[in-house]
Amino acid sequence: LGAFAVPASAQNYPTRTITMIVPFAAGGPTDVVSRIVTAHMAQTLGQSIVIENVVGAGGTTATTRAARAANDGYTLITGHMGTHAASVPLYPKLAYHPEKDFEPVALLAGTPILILARKDFPPKDLKEFVAYVKANAEKVNAAHAGIGSVSHASCELLNSILGVKPVGVPFNGTGPAMNALVAGQVDYMCDQIVNAVPQINAGTIKAYAVATPERNPSLPNVPTTTEAGLPAFQAQAWNAIFAPKGTSPAIIATLNAAAIKALDDENVRKRLLDLGSVIPAPVNRTPEALATLVKNEIAKWTPVLKPAT
Ligand code: MLT
Repeated sequence: LGAFAVPASAQNYPTRTITMIVPFAAGGPTDVVSRIVTAHMAQTLGQSIVIENVVGAGGTTATTRAARAANDGYTLITGHMGTHAASVPLYPKLAYHPEKDFEPVALLAGTPILILARKDFPPKDLKEFVAYVKANAEKVNAAHAGIGSVSHASCELLNSILGVKPVGVPFNGTGPAMNALVAGQVDYMCDQIVNAVPQINAGTIKAYAVATPERNPSLPNVPTTTEAGLPAFQAQAWNAIFAPKGTSPAIIATLNAAAIKALDDENVRKRLLDLGSVIPAPVNRTPEALATLVKNEIAKWTPVLKPAT
């Protein structure tokens, strides 16, 4: 073998079905983004990509499984700001480390966070929401997708800004949490935009604000937290593909190229944009850029979430 030879297994990759672990229930943001992008990647790669939803412990059960999977490119995970950043301060005994146990593959989408409530929750706007939640701190509850999930971590930030500790109601993903919000069984939730746009547009839930500096084009009538009087609450999550540590650079490059091709596809872009996602700029699509994002996100969320544990 010459100095630049790649193993035959990497050269022919992929020769069989790839499993993409999604660490939350079907129908939630991680699942939806993952399905949109991997459907296109499968065409490029010439092999199926099967989504396996593995739920529990805010996504950390599935992420542990992915970290321990064979590093042959046939088991991947769509992780996010929770599994690969917020979980670090929230789980002192986390069985994996996002930086040490994974090879970053590609960032798929940025997902602004919305403050949502059941349709008949009394507050009409964000100012009223703040006053109501403070006045009823003992009574209100907040749905989330488990400790360390995006919905949990971002609402921890919101609740710490408001100085409230609502009862948390955990679900296996914000797909099922959204169903409970629509059914009026829970009061409020901080969720990635992907999950919420169809419901907001259908009028089945309320959106008080989007926690980004600009309004989102998919929800032009939803104010930013700054416009609505709570500038301190800024939160955007993201979804990205990771492979187990030691997966060959050739395989990572093949997967990254397929992900980029998907992000450049008009139909994929339209579907992601219609759901409010932010498509990563080319400079942010490399494995190196994703490694930097993970490092920065752990550094950003650790001081925010440490006191909450
Ligand atoms: C989260 O809260 O981490 C996600 O929304 C989970 C999901 O994709 O369901």
